[in-house]
Amino acid sequence: MKTLNIIGPGRLGKSLARLAQQSGRYQIAGVYARFAQHVTDAIAFIGAGDFCSSLDQLPAADLYLLAVPDGAIADVARELAACHIVKAGNVVFHASGVSDAALLAPLQDSGAYLASVHPAFSFADPALAVASFNATLCALEGDQLACDILQYFVLALGGKPFTLVKGGKAAYHASLTMAANYLVTLADLSLKTAQMAGIEDEIAQSLIFNLMQQTLSNIKVLGPAAALTGPIVRGDEATIEKHLAVLKDATILRCYQSMGLATIDLAAAHINKSKQAALQHIFA
Ligand SMILES: NC(=O)c1ccc[n+]([C@@H]2O[C@H](COP(=O)([O-])OP(=O)(O)OC[C@H]3O[C@@H](n4cnc5c(N)ncnc54)[C@H](OP(=O)(O)O)[C@@H]3O)[C@@H](O)[C@H]2O)c1
Repeated sequence: MKTLNIIGPGRLGKSLARLAQQSGRYQIAGVYARFAQHVTDAIAFIGAGDFCSSLDQLPAADLYLLAVPDGAIADVARELAACHIVKAGNVVFHASGVSDAALLAPLQDSGAYLASVHPAFSFADPALAVASFNATLCALEGDQLACDILQYFVLALGGKPFTLVKGGKAAYHASLTMAANYLVTLADLSLKTAQMAGIEDEIAQSLIFNLMQQTLSNIKVLGPAAALTGPIVRGDEATIEKHLAVLKDATILRCYQSMGLATIDLAAAHINKSKQAALQHIFA
């Protein structure tokens, strides 16, 4: 059985640790955070692990998860390297979505294999996270041998591993940000625009959320280009001019225009070049 040290047993750290322990294929070894109470609480949640009050108290382990906030990963990697606990052949990984394994560079001289594992999942509540983690896609990136070993780790936890190309981390995370965060922004702007039509909040929410849900289902089945409906793909300039005339809020207008321009590209197969140019002129 492989052993795993947890550095930073916060929301993600303790969730993955408990899943690893429950899998029966990993034994949680040491658990370290700066505040003793956090470590004690985490060990109780995980159901395993030795209390460590400093990094140099960590026992030797096969794998090390640095589940500290992104901004602390490089410093903690430096501190861990200075402890000389990590040995050649160990695997050290962090869980940042945007940064790659290079953040762990201070550990390079130890001979350990370095990587990052990013579960595309929200660990807001660890108990809920453990219950619903199954089939979560997890992006792997870093040293080949580390990725090979971590594939088994992710599978043991019930996740679905996939590997990113070298240098792909920032684009990967930008993609998730657009899909998850900007979808929320889009819903908010759509609701605000519905308010301009005098629609009651409750009705506006049903209107917008049902349409978004239906559109998401269509995208999933048909793909983005075939799921596209509406004035742009119909080449309906007059309708778009009417929209632009009522969008007085600068933020809403800017978003409507830039999404409109991107939508012309998506609709390019259905509208001829001169219609595309006319639409671009309206949005610009
Ligand atoms: N939460 C999510 O949904 C999610 C999803 C995907 C990826 N991630 C990634 O997972 C990582 C952890 O995020 P999180 O949300 O789990 O953070 P979190 O809940 O804030 O937990 C951070 C943990 O790190 C410890 N810590 C903070 N600074 C430290 C330091 N300098 N040295 C040692 N321990 C330190 C904290 O305990 P002390 O304060 O006691 O030190 C705590 O146990 C991040 O890289 C994040 O991007 C998170």
